[in-house]
Amino acid sequence: MVRRGDAGRAAWRGGDHGPVSGQGAGGAARRGTRAHLKIAGIGPLSRQRDSGPVAGPFISLLNLATIRPMADDYLVSEFNGIKLAWSPELDGGGRGFGQDYVPLVRHLFGKVGRLAEFCAGPAYIGFSLLAHDCCEHLVLIDVNPRAIDAIHETIRMNGLAEKVTVYLSDGLGAIPPTERWDLVVANPPHFREPVGDVPSIITDDPGWRVHRDFYGGVGGFLTPGGSVLVQENSEGSAPEDFLQMIEDGGLTHTSTLWYGGGQAGPGFYYLWSRKALPGLVFDPGVRPADLKLGPGGGQLLDLDPRGPWALRLVNLTGRPVRPRLTDDAGQDQFWLPFGELGTESATELPRMALRPGGYQVRDETSGTVLARIRVS
Ligand SMILES: C[S@@+](CC[C@H](N)C(=O)[O-])C[C@H]1O[C@@H](n2cnc3c(N)ncnc32)[C@H](O)[C@@H]1O
Repeated sequence: MVRRGDAGRAAWRGGDHGPVSGQGAGGAARRGTRAHLKIAGIGPLSRQRDSGPVAGPFISLLNLATIRPMADDYLVSEFNGIKLAWSPELDGGGRGFGQDYVPLVRHLFGKVGRLAEFCAGPAYIGFSLLAHDCCEHLVLIDVNPRAIDAIHETIRMNGLAEKVTVYLSDGLGAIPPTERWDLVVANPPHFREPVGDVPSIITDDPGWRVHRDFYGGVGGFLTPGGSVLVQENSEGSAPEDFLQMIEDGGLTHTSTLWYGGGQAGPGFYYLWSRKALPGLVFDPGVRPADLKLGPGGGQLLDLDPRGPWALRLVNLTGRPVRPRLTDDAGQDQFWLPFGELGTESATELPRMALRPGGYQVRDETSGTVLARIRVS
């Protein structure tokens, strides 16, 4: 087990994933009463109140197959009027740092139609967003039957059957292709390597399989304009770990958000992505490149269409030139002339995002081609 925080307490504070206050917006928990599932093959579940540590073992992937219904009960916490059934071994931080989703979703999206929580656990985040009127309908997804059972208990206690759809699913594998979501939130396992002595589906995503499958499939469930906002932890990842997965899934990385105004520790960040629109990039930074103008047609520069490019023209023609940037059809790409560029000197063009195709830098005076660009 990873040891953090108070060494005198239980080894792992299951709901925290780090030095964060454990008490969520749900306030103190009380015990529910209904009979439910118990996990066979691992020890008894711990029974602390929600401000205390979690001593019980996590559910490992190996143990999932052995889960079977047995008598059990739940703790109950309230989230803005919704009574939520949970047990400590299902808590992945949604009671604490996960509640930052409420101000963030309100700020970024207001109220959405259909909101899905992936890796929902007992859905502290999803039910809290529903309770705070951030969505019309809630869709909850988790691989752990025990979490799904807790969700059904919450639905039953609050009469929410019309408002909530639930899927027991490994990744998005069991989601009907007709599902559509305006917003997907997730607090997935944050660590690529196991962080405890026992494998845990709360903390571990070996080789990022869960993330890769999720980003590979989620685009197919998004409504036009739909967004994905995933909470991550820099103790387990960097934003760059997921950017290629996002792109491979046909999504565009809109932004990486850091929120120091909530309950989460300083390492928590959010990856915001949307279905890609070819040619559209968000927050890309500047991409510098040099293009050498030469007497015999100069350099051929390959660029990709994700801009903005800050292109620097370097005059190696041996004479002063007056460069223009045209497409292959001769159409000027900029309105204002660049002016004269002296021998051996350089000038930076206005930033640009070029559509795919061929381009030329020509000398306005002589009409000769000084360099070429190919965008593909
Ligand atoms: C960090 S916990 C988050 C739980 C809860 N949302 C919260 O905030 O406390 C990660 C959750 O991901 C779920 N999970 C892990 N692997 C999964 C998979 N392959 N498909 C769906 N859910 C998965 C676990 O069961 C667990 O509930």
